[in-house]
Amino acid sequence: MDADTVWQLYPTPARETPLRGLYLGHALRDIGAAGDRPFVYTNYVQSIDGRIAIPRPSGKGMMVPTDTANDRDWRLFQELAVQADCLISSGRYLRDYAEGKAQEILRVYDEPRFDDLGRWRAERGLSRYPDLAVVSGSLDFPIPPFLTEAGRRVIVLTNGTAAPERMARLRDEGATVVVAGEEDVSGRAAIDALGEQGYRTLYMATGPRVHHLLLADNVLDRLYTTVAHRLLGGQPFSSLVEGDLLRPAVGLRLHALYYDPHALDGLGQQFVCYAR
Ligand SMILES: NC(=O)c1ccc[n+]([C@@H]2O[C@H](COP(=O)([O-])OP(=O)(O)OC[C@H]3O[C@@H](n4cnc5c(N)ncnc54)[C@H](OP(=O)(O)O)[C@@H]3O)[C@@H](O)[C@H]2O)c1
Repeated sequence: MDADTVWQLYPTPARETPLRGLYLGHALRDIGAAGDRPFVYTNYVQSIDGRIAIPRPSGKGMMVPTDTANDRDWRLFQELAVQADCLISSGRYLRDYAEGKAQEILRVYDEPRFDDLGRWRAERGLSRYPDLAVVSGSLDFPIPPFLTEAGRRVIVLTNGTAAPERMARLRDEGATVVVAGEEDVSGRAAIDALGEQGYRTLYMATGPRVHHLLLADNVLDRLYTTVAHRLLGGQPFSSLVEGDLLRPAVGLRLHALYYDPHALDGLGQQFVCYAR
């Protein structure tokens, strides 16, 4: 078997298929264009024991474990991102970004290895990069100037109790600030607000609490997970959803399952896609 391929195990029959293009083939923009509200999807890489983030070695803040992160998963993360009109991120992400501690998700096609994804957008007449939505109650983060300088829109989704002077500062920095919930941002209000801005495909690329907001309001359409074949143990950790018990439980159907035997020096990983 070629290192450039993975096994599709579902839908059956099983077949070997190229890794490159795997998630582009899911044609998420077509689904978004056909729906009457935005199509919302997310993606997590996790260990077998369900860890998506563990403490940084410095003890300050959390990070994706180096034992689960890998280039093959990262390629597929970007294939999901490239299909979005807008990425959904968080105040936490932009705080880390300002300190140089965040994984780069905002300008990856500047890297030669992702040239083809930049072209993929250009060929479809899309802006070079998706716009950015930021979920935040604190509003305690700067807008990276390169975003607005390059003409990308930044939509901040916040709650009604957020500090007005911080809303004003973010507007001065070029953001559109939208109140999408009273005490807390609500998943439905956030997605409705982004729909009103004209977005049809939304890639939620943040952590377990924002994920919970979407699940609690039943506005997530697709969940992609990469299960890296390692167990990490340890406390504390983040799993892919955190918050109150979901009532009712959110049920999802298996949409696709791939086995990638080449990742992590041959340990392997699974790419699992669930749909509402
Ligand atoms: N393995 C993976 O695939 C993966 C994917 C994503 C993230 N992660 C990791 O998971 C860890 C946690 O991620 P995270 O901090 O981005 O995610 P998060 O727990 O979902 O929360 C992020 C931020 O969103 C804002 N927020 C959340 N719920 C809100 C609400 N109801 N109302 C208003 N604002 C709300 C807050 O911003 P403010 O503090 O500004 O108010 C909060 O700090 C990170 O270490 C990250 O690297 C891993």
